[in-house]
Amino acid sequence: MSAKDVMTVFSPATVANVGCGFDILGFAVEQPGDEITVSLTNRKDVRILSIAGDDGKLPLDPSKNSAGVSVIALLQKLKVSQGVDITIVKKMPLGSGLGSSAAGAAGSVFALNKLLGEPFTTQELVPFAMEGERVCSGTAHADNVAPALMGGFVTVRSYDPPDFISIPTKIPLFCLLVKPHTEILTKNARKILQDNVPLKKLVCQTGNLAGLIIGLIREDISLIGRSLVDVIIEPQRAPLIPGYESIRNTAYDSGAIACSISGSGPSIFSLYSDNRKMEIAAEKIKEVCSREHISIDCFLTKINYSGIQIYE
Ligand code: HSE
Repeated sequence: MSAKDVMTVFSPATVANVGCGFDILGFAVEQPGDEITVSLTNRKDVRILSIAGDDGKLPLDPSKNSAGVSVIALLQKLKVSQGVDITIVKKMPLGSGLGSSAAGAAGSVFALNKLLGEPFTTQELVPFAMEGERVCSGTAHADNVAPALMGGFVTVRSYDPPDFISIPTKIPLFCLLVKPHTEILTKNARKILQDNVPLKKLVCQTGNLAGLIIGLIREDISLIGRSLVDVIIEPQRAPLIPGYESIRNTAYDSGAIACSISGSGPSIFSLYSDNRKMEIAAEKIKEVCSREHISIDCFLTKINYSGIQIYE
């Protein structure tokens, strides 16, 4: 196998929804993330050779694994029967609301596209990675895979036809991710959501979403803070997350600009304008959680504006 037949990439964790943007807004973070190696082979099939760091929980069957499904979707679109081997090193928790299945899907199609001479733009890869999400969560949502691939903040303007828009901002925010030691499957966190939204709440949520996007573009911290409020999904999902109220209150008391559920939870993200405030918030949240006997892991990171990185 020559060097041009194999590629290893870092595929980042992502925060979907970003409070008021259910299924249509997400951002990528610098850490954690998964390492995905994709190789072209002389065979005709797609194989997941190994997965490390998942405690044996993820399927090696490519038709059931987000990375395998996404790669198969890409090859089908090209109508080629190219053999592909995938190796995954998971460096983020599963069922955490940090876009674990999306990282596998996005990283593998990104690397395969490069190895095949880039028949697709990065944005055109999103629908293939969404097929990986469909097999894991039952819905082909794009608010994790689009920011994982494209980096930064991404809006899903439309699913049909697909229209993914990078928000023109490079605002240097710090992001604290708190992951309680409990697993929530996206499938289940979606089942509990009510189908209908009262008009008043819709008006409030769309106002917040507009304010958040303008705040990001203008780099207006105050506008981001008062707009990143979810009046529809958060109240329904918060009871699934141990210590949610305490963690959220502590984040705000420690200077967070905003705080909400990351994706379908249980992880909670909070945003800060400086690193020191984020570090203090993390310490205070650890103290509060220890007092309330809630086990957590913390990731202190930044917004990732580069998306997937190729390891040389
Ligand atoms: N938008 C999806 C949801 C993201 O909230 O169900 C899941 O990571």
